[in-house]
Amino acid sequence: MSEADQPVYLNGEYLPLAEASIPVLDRGFLFGDGVYEVIPVYGGKPLRLDDHLARLKRSLGEIRIPPPLTDAEWSSIFSRLISGTGDQYLYLQVTRGAATKRDHAIPAGIAPTVFVMCSPITPMPADGIKAITVEDIRWSRCDIKAITLLANVLLRQDAIDAGAAEAILIRDGKVQEGAASNVFIVSHGAIVTPPKGRTILPGITRDLVLELAREAGQTVEERLFDAEELRNASEIWMTSSIREILPVIELDGQRVSAGNPGPVWQTLNAAYQAFKERHSQSD
Ligand code: PDD
Repeated sequence: MSEADQPVYLNGEYLPLAEASIPVLDRGFLFGDGVYEVIPVYGGKPLRLDDHLARLKRSLGEIRIPPPLTDAEWSSIFSRLISGTGDQYLYLQVTRGAATKRDHAIPAGIAPTVFVMCSPITPMPADGIKAITVEDIRWSRCDIKAITLLANVLLRQDAIDAGAAEAILIRDGKVQEGAASNVFIVSHGAIVTPPKGRTILPGITRDLVLELAREAGQTVEERLFDAEELRNASEIWMTSSIREILPVIELDGQRVSAGNPGPVWQTLNAAYQAFKERHSQSD
């Protein structure tokens, strides 16, 4: 099946991707007024579904959109769109909907636009990626998974232009997260990641990695750290639902340790892959 024929969900209907369209006055199109989720699917089953739906509800609440569907309704849409057992991900987006005129203020009584599609996951290089550090130019509600991603787009492109795969964002001298991922370092033997707050997205993969690290008996610290500690870290990893745990082997053109994925990453990645396998095999 070509991508254009792939079935998607739009406002209560299932139709081929190429036929899905929205009105130009949709506030997602005009203002980036909406939120989204990306949910990995292994063995035909969404991973950490309850956590993703809870984060979606929180994002919707923060931008004052009433939940358009129940958890059971979301699940039934997902089941219809997931095909086969290969690694894939659900992308869902809820915008405030189409108004009758362009006006910043939130209009009363419009129906949200709900869109869902399911696509294959493209594996990332297992031998690690390059990253650069950049100034975090985003707004101050990065905890909301908003579709308003212009800063993230520009920052990721800065990384690509520098021959890297991800940008690590620094705000007021402190490391926050990646353009589309959370960040972890290994520093003085501890696994360190910035704490949740308004300047990072509370990543579902981040939480899972912390859980697996604690189960493995590793020392874990949720605290801020600066660019110097990042540069001196023995390991750096980026996490996200579609990139899993990616080791950074080069930062701003300098090798991280020996320039290979480090031993703590090896342990945690093995635990993550085993977790995925158990999830795929579960009923
Ligand atoms: N992005 N931080 C940012 C800014 C992100 O955009 C993402 C994920 C994460 C990781 O969150 P999670 O582990 O829940 O995927 C952190 C998705 C994948 C995207 O925008 O495509």
